[in-house]
Amino acid sequence: MSKLEQWPQGLGPVICVVGARPNFMKMAPILRAFSENVPAIPTLLVHTGQHYDKDMNDKLFDDLRLPKPDINLEVGSGSHAVQTAEVMKRFEPVIDERKPSCILVVGDVNSTLACTLVAVKKNIPVVHVEAGLRSYDRGMPEEINRVLTDQIADLLYTTERSAEGNLIREGISADRVRFVGNVMIDSLLENKKFARDPATTLQEHGIDPKRISTPEGYGLVTLHRPSNVDHADTLSSLLTELRRISEKLPLVFALHPRTKTNIERFGLQQLIDTPSMIMLPPQGYLEMLGLMASARIVLTDSGGLQEETTALGVPCLTMRENTERPITVEQGTNTMVGRDIPLIRRMTEETLSGNGKRGRIPELWDGRAAQRIAEDLSSWLIVRSVATA
Ligand code: UD1
Repeated sequence: MSKLEQWPQGLGPVICVVGARPNFMKMAPILRAFSENVPAIPTLLVHTGQHYDKDMNDKLFDDLRLPKPDINLEVGSGSHAVQTAEVMKRFEPVIDERKPSCILVVGDVNSTLACTLVAVKKNIPVVHVEAGLRSYDRGMPEEINRVLTDQIADLLYTTERSAEGNLIREGISADRVRFVGNVMIDSLLENKKFARDPATTLQEHGIDPKRISTPEGYGLVTLHRPSNVDHADTLSSLLTELRRISEKLPLVFALHPRTKTNIERFGLQQLIDTPSMIMLPPQGYLEMLGLMASARIVLTDSGGLQEETTALGVPCLTMRENTERPITVEQGTNTMVGRDIPLIRRMTEETLSGNGKRGRIPELWDGRAAQRIAEDLSSWLIVRSVATA
């Protein structure tokens, strides 16, 4: 495809929205692809400020070489209603002032839906990257964000083929949907060579790296879903089992602020207070890549890690009842274990005895998804601007 030489006069910038940690690794390759493949496109990076901690935010921007946001709405934490409403209130004047040709949102966090709603009501087209994923669990706030964003967005880029079927079942026309691959895997493939050695990561936190250099290796754990960490009984039973696993295989935890707060609130510190459970604060992108790539097993409830472990070929046990990313189970290294303690135990043992899933790389998870989006979107915007002129 020939490169776009000039951006049509009168056509505004593409406003790219990020809000929370899992958005950053999706947006970084998209911005890079815009500047490399269609440099004529003006872009504007808006950060809603949903995540604001140094650990959850600044470090990831540096690691991913994301440009500093042009605008930060600084919404911070709040209930879902407050956070969503606050993003909407603060995003509206940005659209009024900047008159974008479209807004581009990624993933499924509250900021994704909030900005989509604002734009659509102002007749600004919305492009959703990572569309069509469904867990079919309406108890998950992310599922509500996905369903609503996809219903009202104009152009939907998908990461796996099953997503298009989900969208069509919801009455969305196939001509709004394009299968382009997985931008999060673009980030992973680009940054793998920079991944930080896990021993260095531990040392940086004053932890003796010998604690993970056992003949068995180590496992990596992340846990932050409200369904797993917001109830004392559930959190306590998961931590008890993880402690048991750690007696055979040291476990490194990257502790999300929500989980840390709840462990303290429920008085569960004694469950994690053992040398075989190594607690770290939320990690940077390169530290996390290094920790994942060298782990014997990953135990998680994250969406992103299910895909990243598939791309890295590392066995992953997902402590959720369902996944919106079924390709990681069908083709990748992911196994769903829910909160079923005997199943977690059995699958961990199977994996450690060498029978973990090996998997293969899904279609179009090839590092070029963002490039496909940049080229397709620029043509779409130009065709659309001519049609609506
Ligand atoms: C959000 C996303 C979730 C994503 C996760 C990754 C929604 C609905 N959920 O959930 O999909 O997997 O981010 O982290 O958007 N906090 C801090 N510092 C921060 C950010 C949050 O301390 O920088 C604390 C606050 O006390 C806050 C809690 O963490 O109440 C939860 O943060 P929030 O953004 O509301 O949701 P997450 O659970 O992080």
